[in-house]
Parts: sequence; C-alpha cells; structure tokens
Amino acid sequence: MSYKVSRRQLAKIAGLSAAAMAGALEAAEAKPAAPPRNGGGFPAGFVWGTATSSYQVEGAVNEDGRGASIWDKFVRIPGKIEDGTTGDRANEHYHRYKEDIALIKELGCRAYRFSVAWPRVFPDGDGKPNPKGLDFYNRLVDELLKNGIEPWLTLYHWDLPQSLEDRFGGWRSTETCKIFGDYAAYVAEHLTDRVKNVFTLNESGRFVYFGYGIGIDAPGLTLPQAEVNQIRHNSALAHGLAVQAVRAHGGRGTRVGPAENIDACAPAIDTPENVRAAEIALREMNAGYLNVIMTGGYTDAFLKYAGPNAPKFTDAELKIISSPIDFLGLNIYAPQNYVVASDQGAGFMPLPIPKSFPHMNSDWLRVGPETIYWVPKLAAKIWKTDAIYISENGASGDDMVRPDGRIYDTDRIMYLRNYLAQLQRATSEGVPVRGYFLWSLMDNFEWVYGLNKRFGLYHVNFDTQVRTPKLSASFYRNVIANNAAGV
Ligand code: NOJ
Repeated sequence: MSYKVSRRQLAKIAGLSAAAMAGALEAAEAKPAAPPRNGGGFPAGFVWGTATSSYQVEGAVNEDGRGASIWDKFVRIPGKIEDGTTGDRANEHYHRYKEDIALIKELGCRAYRFSVAWPRVFPDGDGKPNPKGLDFYNRLVDELLKNGIEPWLTLYHWDLPQSLEDRFGGWRSTETCKIFGDYAAYVAEHLTDRVKNVFTLNESGRFVYFGYGIGIDAPGLTLPQAEVNQIRHNSALAHGLAVQAVRAHGGRGTRVGPAENIDACAPAIDTPENVRAAEIALREMNAGYLNVIMTGGYTDAFLKYAGPNAPKFTDAELKIISSPIDFLGLNIYAPQNYVVASDQGAGFMPLPIPKSFPHMNSDWLRVGPETIYWVPKLAAKIWKTDAIYISENGASGDDMVRPDGRIYDTDRIMYLRNYLAQLQRATSEGVPVRGYFLWSLMDNFEWVYGLNKRFGLYHVNFDTQVRTPKLSASFYRNVIANNAAGV
C-alpha cells in the first residue's frame, strides 16, 4: 500500500508555504547539531577531511605542458565510458582550485586529500620535469595552508603517463616501478617542506585487475592471471620504492603509507569463531598486496592458490615492498566478504551475497556499515599498526536538483551516518583510526561511469561549473563541528 502526498500538500500539512519550508530547512542546517546524546564523540585531534583525485577533477589536460596519461587515451575508445564523457574538462579544478578550497573550508575540514598528476610533473613519466606542472601543486598546497587545511598528497591515482605504457608496458615492467620511485623522490623533494602526509598508490586492488585483467579501466587490457599477479607484485614494489624515496628525499617528519581498497571482510554473525575467521580472511584476501606490504612475505595459502600463476619475486624485492610505513590508509565503501568459520582450507568461508542485498546508487556499493568497524579493528590486530586513516568512504546518489534549487540527498546522509556511527564504535574501543576522508568533496568524473555517478558533498553542474552544497554538506559540517557522528 502506498500513500503519496505531494511536496505542496506536505507544506500545507506542515502549515508552511514552500518558501517558508525552504527557510526552515536553511535555519536547521545552519545550526550545528546538538552535542552527541550518547557521549559518542571521536577522539580529540581526529582528522576530518575530504578527497578528490587529479584526473577526476582537474581538467586542463592539454595545458601548461601536461603529458598524456593512459586515461586520456582510454576515454577516447568508443564505448568505454558509459556516458561518453572524458576528464578533459571535469571540474576545471586546475583553474578553480581557489573556489574549491573555499568549499573545503566551508565544511570545516582540517585536511584535504588530492593527487598529483604524474604526467603534469613529468610529461613522459621520466626525464625532464615540467616546472609548470609542479607549480600548480605549489599553488594548491600554499592555498590550502593559507586556509588552515592540511594537504594530504597521493602520488598515484591511476593517471599513468602514456609514454610509460608505450615504452615499457606500464606496470608490466619493473622499469615503471623504478621511474615511479624517481618521480616520488622529486615530488618529495619539492613539496614535503609543506606536505606532511603522502599516500603512495591509490587502490592497487582496483587498477591492476580492472586495468590489466578485465579491461574495464585504463589501459584496458585483458591479460592472463599470471601477468596480472606479476603486475600486482610490481605495484607493491612501486609502493615500497616510493616509501624509500619519500624517506630519502622528504622533509623531516614526512609520513608515508598506502591508500588501499582493502578487500573488506567481516564476520557474518558476531561470534568468536567467525571473528577469528574474518581475521584470517582479511589476511588471505589481501595477501597479494597489503599483507605482503605489512609482513614482507606472500602467505602459503596465496602461493598455493596461485600455483603456476604466482608472481616471481626476490628477497630483495620483498624487503623493499615491506619498507616500514607510518600509517595504513584504507578505502572502505562496501562489504566484500561476509565470512563464517570453516574447518576446511584456511579456516574461513565467504558466504554468497544475495541479489537483494541493499546498495546505493552505484550497484557495487553495498550498504554494510559494520564493515568500517570490523576492517580497521581486524587490520590493526593482524598487522599491528597504530595509525589507520580511512582514506576514502562515501556514496553516490542521483542527487536531483529540486525546483527550489536544492539537493536533498537523505540517502547519502543515511549511508554516512551509519558508517560514521560504526567508525565511532571502533574508535571508542581503542581501534587506532586517526582520521577520515570523505569521498568526495564534489561530484566528479567517476571513471567508467563518466559524470553519471555523483559522489560529492557539493553538486556540480558540469555545463556551468556551478557548485551547490547538498544537504549532506550540512550533515558533514555538523559532524566535524561536534567531532561526533550524530547517531
Ligand atoms: C575509489 C577511487 O579511489 C575513486 O577514484 C573513486 O571515484 C571512488 N572509489 C568511488 O568509486
């Protein structure tokens, strides 16, 4: 049964004109929420931030000497991007960065995670740097600091210089790893007098498999599993070389770590046996990247499972890969595996996920708020880390602009409220999560989905480039102001 009331009727029932209703909403948003009733705040000094990446927001792909990236080429292959758009213009952030930094400030964020476009700084990936490219990041960093916002820099968010793909086969070659190390050294040398936190690679778990295994992301290849495993190994090696480069060339106190879309495992039902199983699952499902970074070795189960497809590696490489890091960055959106204990195999069994499992407007984005409780908790235990940052979390929505010009994204607020409540549950138990970066500051180029999937706190009209705060921007502002999830 459904009973529908139009907005106009609703306003009438509430005894308000449409204009008065909008006014009431505005007043409600402006007032910070009351302090948490359950006393459930986050630890003092918790870092609240928001995030974007270079190709997704910058645009200006042919300006000031930027070289081509694999995404510039890939988006031009017909049929690859759902809505046929490209990142050529995206959010024009290259030119509008000051305006965008003002938006970050509006939220009360103390931190901003952005990425450096490698081909802006080295148009060919290696060789002669392009000073104009670096200058953009100098301006960006200075403007952030001027506004009291800490810059958190990602070295690689998928825009590999096309030249490296052409000359060496991109991540198929360890040559690219070495060149990445040199690029990391250069960035560290020039920016870590002001940038204190550096993420190495963003989401090896995605760009390796999607880019080289199933052809969904750039460079769009479908290589055999053995090669994909070798590329994953190479990405771990590149991470390790970047850690070493930042140590050797970074300013004093520069911290460095990965930003990985950890394969998120959680117990299907909270029993001691299942929690133990989820712990084993988390290690094994992440054996190809995070676990080798954190422990310096591939697990027996991983090598056995990969069999003849296992990556080839040396002890010297494992040493580089496991160079000590300062923090663990985890991108956590959706549960990947709900597991139960098993007396078979490694000791866990992932359960099939029902088709009816609820998800947000991106169908991969299943809603499992407890994931952001279990994953950091189990990760801290198995890898003994004392600093975890949620380097990404957020949700897409349809984000319709209503006739009153506003965007009431109550679905995103629902998602964030539930995830943040679970994150607070973790920190209140002493799980060492030190900060959270909401993806994303504003709607942007969502890779294969083009401009169709909106993740922003600010709505972007891609014709006019007008940014409009969604209701979730007010929600997040209140969270930050109260240092509490507001459950
Ligand atoms: C992960 C990626 O790092 C980011 O680029 C992407 O837009 C978000 N997730 C949402 O899919």
